[in-house]
Amino acid sequence: MCSSKLVNYLLVIALLLLLYKHVIAEDSQDGFHGDERDALLTLKKGFNNSFLNVNWTGIQCYMNSTPNWYGIQCTNGRVTGVSLENMGLVGKIEPYALVNLAELSILSFKNNSISGNLMNFSYNSKLKKVDLSANRFDREISSSLLGLNFLESLQLQENNLVGSIPGFDQSSLREFNVSYNNLSGKIPDTGILQSFGLSSFVGNQDLCGAPTPTACSSSLNDSSDPPHSDNKSSFLSTTLIVVDVIVLFVLSIFLIIYYKKYKKLKKQMQRRNSVQVNEEKREAITNNSIALTDNSIENSVPAREDDRGKLMFLDKNGTYFELDDLLKASAEGLGKGNFGNCYKAMLEIGPAVVVKRLRDLKPLSSDEFMKHVHAIADKKHPNLLPPLAYYYSKDEKLLLYKYASNGNLYNRLHEGRGTQNRVKFRWSSRLSVAHGVARALGYLHLAIRSQTIAPHGNLKSSNILLDENDEVLVTDYGLISLIALPIAAQRMVSYKSPEYQGQKIVSKKSDVWSYGSILLELLTGRIPTHSAPQGANGVDLCSWVNRAVREEWTAEIFDVEIAAQRSANHGMLGLMQIAMKCCEKSPEKRPEMAEVLREVEDIKIVGDSEDEEDLSLDQSLTDDSLSASTPSLLIAAERR
Ligand SMILES: *[C@@H]1O[C@H](CO)[C@@H](O)[C@H](O)[C@H]1NC(C)=O
Ligand SMILES: *[C@@H]1O[C@H](CO)[C@@H](O)[C@H](O)[C@H]1NC(C)=O
Ligand SMILES: *[C@@H]1O[C@H](CO)[C@@H](O)[C@H](O)[C@H]1NC(C)=O
Ligand SMILES: *[C@@H]1O[C@H](CO)[C@@H](O)[C@H](O)[C@H]1NC(C)=O
Ligand SMILES: *[C@@H]1O[C@H](CO)[C@@H](O)[C@H](O)[C@H]1NC(C)=O
Ligand SMILES: *[C@@H]1O[C@H](CO)[C@@H](O)[C@H](O)[C@H]1NC(C)=O
Ligand SMILES: *[C@@H]1O[C@H](CO)[C@@H](O)[C@H](O)[C@H]1NC(C)=O
Repeated sequence: MCSSKLVNYLLVIALLLLLYKHVIAEDSQDGFHGDERDALLTLKKGFNNSFLNVNWTGIQCYMNSTPNWYGIQCTNGRVTGVSLENMGLVGKIEPYALVNLAELSILSFKNNSISGNLMNFSYNSKLKKVDLSANRFDREISSSLLGLNFLESLQLQENNLVGSIPGFDQSSLREFNVSYNNLSGKIPDTGILQSFGLSSFVGNQDLCGAPTPTACSSSLNDSSDPPHSDNKSSFLSTTLIVVDVIVLFVLSIFLIIYYKKYKKLKKQMQRRNSVQVNEEKREAITNNSIALTDNSIENSVPAREDDRGKLMFLDKNGTYFELDDLLKASAEGLGKGNFGNCYKAMLEIGPAVVVKRLRDLKPLSSDEFMKHVHAIADKKHPNLLPPLAYYYSKDEKLLLYKYASNGNLYNRLHEGRGTQNRVKFRWSSRLSVAHGVARALGYLHLAIRSQTIAPHGNLKSSNILLDENDEVLVTDYGLISLIALPIAAQRMVSYKSPEYQGQKIVSKKSDVWSYGSILLELLTGRIPTHSAPQGANGVDLCSWVNRAVREEWTAEIFDVEIAAQRSANHGMLGLMQIAMKCCEKSPEKRPEMAEVLREVEDIKIVGDSEDEEDLSLDQSLTDDSLSASTPSLLIAAERR
């Protein structure tokens, strides 16, 4: 009996090892790792450390060669260690900063001055060593640490951590230290925690229970798991035999299925490997710019035709082409969008298209993905830019759009200021943009009845495109349903709204808020903080305008390029009033999009007469002339 049990165990272990090895090997080849790079760059930006700013450039990991980035360890091109000790790093780390570092095994920020929350480690299941000692972390010990089943060493001493100690009971834990913090409550009664000596817990005034000498007063209850019951092990031993027979059976079936796929997988792995190398080489070339400037997008899809999906066209009447046409086309990087890189592809037949690579998606099956994309493409309006086609494979998801030849509103508004190349962006053009965007949003809000989502979700000036006739095309709408929530919360405009910061909700009114910010951006020529691209300085436009109005430096609000157009002053003030209503902190006070649309359309476009252009600024718009016409604006501002 005993020996047959042993044989069973050995078999199970052997099978597990086999499975584990192949599954892991397959995983580590999966795609290339821009996400890891982004995570590290975000850390770098947060620390703003002069050494890291210079040292963390270029490519972080190249297969198995020694990384060029200080403190980084890599295996097979994946980041497995981040170790930044004694560097005087200050600041906070986002709770979700490590989400994309799934292979991380060693993490140390020992002896710095980092404060705030501990990170959420839920996505770092391979962590073995975590050392955050001698910092200024001042919140609770994250319960996500309890889920780390390989954790061997946890060093949290010499911080200002508060709250009670969670009930650690992973048997892997060999080293543990939470001394010299501000922890309180009973030390949980788990076997593992009780195996550490007093020196792991000293220096916390309000800790009680073994191994400290202080007994807990009865009012302090243990918040952790109840201690393991003793008859659990006897229960286990009686059911073990049954369990391992079942496990063995299931595993054998898995194994058979797995071996059938194994050869095919191996081939794919080799091919993907070479794709990855090319990708990284290209990124290495362009290490300091965010745009990829390669001239082919060939590497983004498998080389062999039968492994590829097809391009699926969403509009049956448009130009039709094959994936191969796209791969042959010369391409130009348009820069890095929020959810992946964008390319412009010049097809030999037909017009140029924009290819958007999607990253950080929710895990969606091909059917679900298709359903979402069709729902987006079904929204048709002259001021919306729907996707033309999509491509779905395990490793790559692409959306194709028509190319809008006059660029985006962000560039039109802010690029080339103060240079000779700058073409003035006059009032009538700005107002027509405001009209177009309002129409597009009004339509989306009507088409999507739900009150609890933001139908656009990511409205900002770089997502407002201008076609060859300067007509507005709003793009990037509806992607909110495709993106994983933690990522969306970091990157999408609706999640920057006051209601998400406060109550963690977004709704149609969040789009209204984003629209208000666009209006202010059009009126002031300034960049709003929440949509400023990396490297650009933004202002919190809503507060800034409110203050300006309250303190009566109204004349300085408007962009100098339009301030001189006197005949338009009335319209500008009207638009400003609408913008301020849309920017209200509380979503209930903001108008519905339909009402906004009506009011914006009431502001009529007047010609930009040429003679006004010659008027010098100081005589055309003084504080007097403005405040005479702004009583209602001022009153509106004062009521807030
Ligand atoms: C980064 O630090 C430098 C000085 O070390 C400072 O001038 C700069 O403003 C900082 N940047 C940010 C974004 O905090
Ligand atoms: C970063 O620092 C390490 C160690 O000081 C050095 O070996 C490496 O070359 C540096 N990398 C860059 C890109 O400066
Ligand atoms: C901690 O880091 C600082 C540099 O920030 C260094 O001067 C100091 O010696 C380090 N302390 C220990 C104990 O290593
Ligand atoms: C960590 O993140 C996961 C997934 O988003 C969440 O379920 C969990 O509650 C978080 N844990 C902590 C302690 O914040
Ligand atoms: C310890 O934490 C309590 C709240 O739990 C706080 O009131 C106290 O100021 C903290 N003490 C130190 C030294 O940080
Ligand atoms: C825990 O950390 C404290 C302070 O650094 C140190 O004095 C103590 O020896 C450590 N205990 C263990 C078990 O490592
Ligand atoms: C502590 O736990 C006991 C039973 O588990 C309960 O009766 C008592 O009310 C608890 N005390 C506090 C202060 O929560």
